Amino acid sequence: MTELAELLDSRIRDVPDYPKPGVLFKDIAPLLADAEAFGALVRALADRATELGATKVVGLEARGFVLAAPAAFAAGLGFVPIRKKGKLPGEVHAESYDLEYGSATLEVQCDAFAPGEKVLVIDDVLATGGTVAASLELVRRAGGVPVGVLVLMELGFLPGRERLTPHLDGVPLEALITV
Ligand code: PRP
Ligand code: MG
Repeated sequence: MTELAELLDSRIRDVPDYPKPGVLFKDIAPLLADAEAFGALVRALADRATELGATKVVGLEARGFVLAAPAAFAAGLGFVPIRKKGKLPGEVHAESYDLEYGSATLEVQCDAFAPGEKVLVIDDVLATGGTVAASLELVRRAGGVPVGVLVLMELGFLPGRERLTPHLDGVPLEALITV
């Protein structure tokens, strides 16, 4: 593990049986509350945004906002929210994806990107990959070109990366930590 990964990993708290019995929840609140770890995380995300040539940073509601907005600022880039259904005014593109029980819908404003704009997608966790897959489709439908997907944490015991592969179409998917 890199020094950064070790620092980040040390600030993530395991919460057994949350939100339901048998699930081990990865709580990033201690990481966000630690100035050194949060700062190092945001700088690492911002550096990758610059290296990947992004011109906009997208954050996925809700926890993705907490990482993507400061990373966009630190990289000198604008921020675009992808939100849960019904939260964005005006014309939106919508994509639904499956959850364990039922489905959810994400939206982006139709005028979020200039045509061909290079977009970096940031979220906190990659689990089954449904959230990121829907978000990549939304970016493309709104005229953006995904140049990368960054997550703080990939749950390596779930087939999220595999599920995402057809949606990535060669776009790099990077996790700072894999658990
Ligand atoms: C969580 C997490 C990721 C997503 C990953 O969001 O923040 O966005 O699940 O799961 P997936 O890879 O299986 O799609 P969630 O919608 O639960 O809540 P949030 O609004 O707190 O971010
Ligand atoms: Mg989320």
